[in-house]
Amino acid sequence: MKSLLVGNGAREHAIAEQMAKNSELYAFMSAKNPGIAKLSKEFQIGDIKDPKEVLKYALHVQPDYVFVGPEDPLAKGVADMLLENGIQVVGPTKVAARLESDKSFARTLMQEYVPDGIPKFVVCSTERDVSEALKEFDTDIVVKPAGLTGGKGVKIQGKHLKNLFEVQEYANEIIEKRIGGSNVVVLEERLEGEEFTLQVFTDGEHIIPMPLVQDHKQAFEGDEGPMTGGMGSYSDANHLLPFMDEKDVEDALSIIKRTLRGLKEKTGLIYKGVLYGQFMLTKDGPKVIEYNVRFGDPEAMNVLPLLKTDFSAICMSILEGNLQMAEFENKATVCKYLVPKGYPDKSKIPEPTKIPVDEEAVKSVGAKLYYASVDAREDGIYTSTSRTLGIVGIADSIEEAEKIAEAGVQKVKTDALFYRRDIGTRELIQKRIEHMRKLRGN
Ligand code: GLY
Repeated sequence: MKSLLVGNGAREHAIAEQMAKNSELYAFMSAKNPGIAKLSKEFQIGDIKDPKEVLKYALHVQPDYVFVGPEDPLAKGVADMLLENGIQVVGPTKVAARLESDKSFARTLMQEYVPDGIPKFVVCSTERDVSEALKEFDTDIVVKPAGLTGGKGVKIQGKHLKNLFEVQEYANEIIEKRIGGSNVVVLEERLEGEEFTLQVFTDGEHIIPMPLVQDHKQAFEGDEGPMTGGMGSYSDANHLLPFMDEKDVEDALSIIKRTLRGLKEKTGLIYKGVLYGQFMLTKDGPKVIEYNVRFGDPEAMNVLPLLKTDFSAICMSILEGNLQMAEFENKATVCKYLVPKGYPDKSKIPEPTKIPVDEEAVKSVGAKLYYASVDAREDGIYTSTSRTLGIVGIADSIEEAEKIAEAGVQKVKTDALFYRRDIGTRELIQKRIEHMRKLRGN
C-alpha cells in the first residue's frame, strides 16, 4: 500500500511513524522535517496550502490514501481538490473544515445541536456589535478571532486582558486588522474548569474515541504567559484524566456525536477523518471550547505511539465507511515541547540557531523525539520561528512518563530553547484534581 502525508510538524512526524509501519510513505512538506524524510520513500518540498501543488504530487505518487496533518491545507480545500481528482483523502473538505476555520459557523451549528455543550457567545463584525455584545455578559470574556490563528489569537479577560476596556480594544483590533483572515470576532463567556482534549476517528457514521489528553497552552510554568500552539501534554494509562470520570467522557462524546449529526443535516457532508474536541470540564459538565478538524499538536504525540491497530487500516476503513476498531495501549504519556527563546512572539525569536540534536541520546533514556518546526541544513538542525522538538515519555504512570520525558529533554543541550518543566509533574496534576474537586464541591 502507498500513502501520502501532507505536513511537516511534530504532529505529522508522529503520524508518519504510524503510516510508515504498513505502507510505503510519501510526504509533501513545506520544509524538510528530518524525521519524516527518514521514514519516507520519497518526499517533496512545496506549498502545502496550495491545493494544486498537493494534487500534482499526489497524481505523481498515486497513493491509496492521503492524510492531511494540519488545518490550513484543509481550510484551503486540499481535500476537495484531491477528491475531485479521484484521490482518496482522510480529512474533511473545505466546508466541513469550517468547524475549525470559522468559529462563527461552528458556534452557530453547536447552538442548534448541542446547546447544553457550549458557553454563551456573541458573534460581532463591527465596533458597534462589540459594544452592544459587551452588555450581554456578567462573566469575564474570551475574545476569539473567527478564523485561524494557530491557537495564538485567543485572549482571555483576567489573563491577557485586564478589563472590559481591553476586551473591547482587542475585539475591535481583530475586526480592523482582520486577524485570522476576516473581520469577524466571537466573544464568549469565560468558563471555569479544567481543559481536556478528546480526539476521535470517524467515518461519518462510526466514531471511535482516543485516550484523553490535557494540553498546556500557556508559554510559561504555572500556566502563565501568552497563548501558544501548546507547550506539552499528558495522558493517563486508563485513557481518562486524573480529574475526570467515565460519565464526563460519555457526555463529551455525546456532544461530538450530535455536532457531527448536525453538520451532516445542515451541510449534507459526511465528515471523514480525525475530529478534535477541545473541552472545558466545568462544574456543569463538559463544554466545547473549540473543534479542530485534525489531530492535536502536541496531542497526536500522546496518542499515536500507543496505537495498537494499524493506522493505514484505520484510514482505509474510514474511507470505506466501516470504521470498527482503533485500540490503544494502556500506558501513560507525557510530551514536552522545546521551543525557541521568545516563542510565541515571532519578533522576539532570535535568528535561526543551530541546535545539537542527538537522537540516540534521547532514545537511550527511553524517550521519543519528534521534529517540529526545524530547518534541516547540510551542517545540522536549525531552529525556526515555531516549536522545535517534541520529547515524549511513555510508562505505566504519568509520574514515570514525566521522568522519562524530562530525561529526554536534558539530552538536548542548548540554551536556544526553553520548555515547561512542570508539565506532567505530580504537583501540577494534583493542582488540577483539587481545582476540579473544589468546583464540583466534593
Ligand atoms: N493542542 C492545540 C492544537 O492542536 O490546536
